[in-house]
Amino acid sequence: MPVFLSHRTATDESIGADLLVVPIAESAHGVPARLARLGKGVADAVARALDLGDFEREVGSVVTLRVCRIERYPRILLLRLGSGEEPESVGVRRAFAKASKDPLFRRIDSVAVWAEPSLGSGAALAENVAAAIDGLLEGTYRWTAATTKKESPAGRYLFLADGARSLARVDEGIAHGRALGDSVLLAREIANTPANRMGPAEMAERAKEIAAEAGLACRVLAGTRLARERMEAIRTVGAGSARDPRLIVLEYDPGVDLEPIVLVGKGLVYDTGGLSLKPTSSMVGMKFDKCGGSVVLAVLRAAATLDLPLPLVGIVPAVENSVSGTSYRPGDVIGSRSGQTIDVQNTDAEGRLVLADAIDYGIDKYSPRALIDIATLTGAAYYALGDRACAVLGTDDGVVERLREAGERSGERVWPLPLWAGYRKDVDSPVADVRNTGPWGAGTITGAAFLQRFTRDVPWAHLDIASVSYDRRETKNGATGFGVRLLVEALRRWPKRRGRGR
Ligand code: BES
Ligand code: MN
Ligand code: ZN
Repeated sequence: MPVFLSHRTATDESIGADLLVVPIAESAHGVPARLARLGKGVADAVARALDLGDFEREVGSVVTLRVCRIERYPRILLLRLGSGEEPESVGVRRAFAKASKDPLFRRIDSVAVWAEPSLGSGAALAENVAAAIDGLLEGTYRWTAATTKKESPAGRYLFLADGARSLARVDEGIAHGRALGDSVLLAREIANTPANRMGPAEMAERAKEIAAEAGLACRVLAGTRLARERMEAIRTVGAGSARDPRLIVLEYDPGVDLEPIVLVGKGLVYDTGGLSLKPTSSMVGMKFDKCGGSVVLAVLRAAATLDLPLPLVGIVPAVENSVSGTSYRPGDVIGSRSGQTIDVQNTDAEGRLVLADAIDYGIDKYSPRALIDIATLTGAAYYALGDRACAVLGTDDGVVERLREAGERSGERVWPLPLWAGYRKDVDSPVADVRNTGPWGAGTITGAAFLQRFTRDVPWAHLDIASVSYDRRETKNGATGFGVRLLVEALRRWPKRRGRGR
């Protein structure tokens, strides 16, 4: 685990690092202020590189200088920060993430970052330092649990600033960036773990470890407990697998007298499609079908680490959708915890089934002020928005709008789709209360329309992250953790008023 420290810029001549990162805003002209304090050679080398004009304006562009005679910093990296539509801190995160994917960051031990004034001052400095750390953790992360050759990326990061007040801002940024960035990596690490190494039981064990470390309450329902809770939808989806389902419940209680917000995450440890079997090419990424669940576990951890002032409950149905003689079938009619019967048209529309029971449980046990679910629910989300945003739908405009705004601020963007009455009728069934597929088209919407039937009168929003939860070009470290930054940002600013919804 790398360490992040603040350090006074010019006071200690003995301080140095294998690499000095000098962030430069897109609009900036010339050498960042006060850089000459590191020695005239540094400022001259940077000025020369900028004059030569080969430093691109695109976010994350770099120029590496190797300057002999500057022993404290043998390498200097000019790093272009983003700008344009997105908030400054999102550009900072993207720039640091992109630059730190370079193999250079695995060869060196220490990095210094010219934080002040290049990353701003005051509150912006804290926010941008946090974003830089979040980006550095993202860029240097590798899923190495299953490799025998271990790598060790740079282990020491120094953020350089000047006065005591700036150093305090940097320290604030370090604490926040670390808590957030580590939570994103936690979500990615769980999601990247293949199904043979993580079944429902292992996912529940992982949740217990997280709870113990972060000081959360944790309960796991299995076997007869699930039966006694009448979780027929969860049990039916899990019935085709030799590995029985679990319902993971995490509680974060900061000791304030408010109804909780309930977060529900889809935890399909693997989705073969069941008897409505997926073709091989669509099945290969299906260890990532637990991304929503891994995000919920990570958000609960982040909330506890950051001391967010509102109570939260995280619920994750951890289930395997597999094929055997005990699998459920297309054409079956099954029950659910809510009492509603479900006409199963397609066993590959399993996520909405397990979520239906988890949502019903969350509402029944916690009477939440709002419920948000996050799920890799439909491939159709990819056709709608590609991997630049996830879809949001819900019954409460306030909750939907909060998520959209948090998406803009966090850079994990969210875009609304409608849930009009016509769509809600599309999941009517002639033989049961509801069916688990709609007619052809609008798959992301009919998925949400199904879930809506289980939300009673609780303000609810659904995030379909199927298109953003993993990188299809990079299946090894592929999970993105999309949703952690988004939900933490939304929850940080959630009003502390009593009552439901906004
Ligand atoms: N887990 C899949 C959705 C998915 C697809 C996630 C691609 C990530 C990448 C989900 O369970 C599913 O199979 N959905 C079906 C629904 C259909 C049968 C109504 C789909 O999207 O095709
Ligand atoms: Mn499926
Ligand atoms: Zn699925």
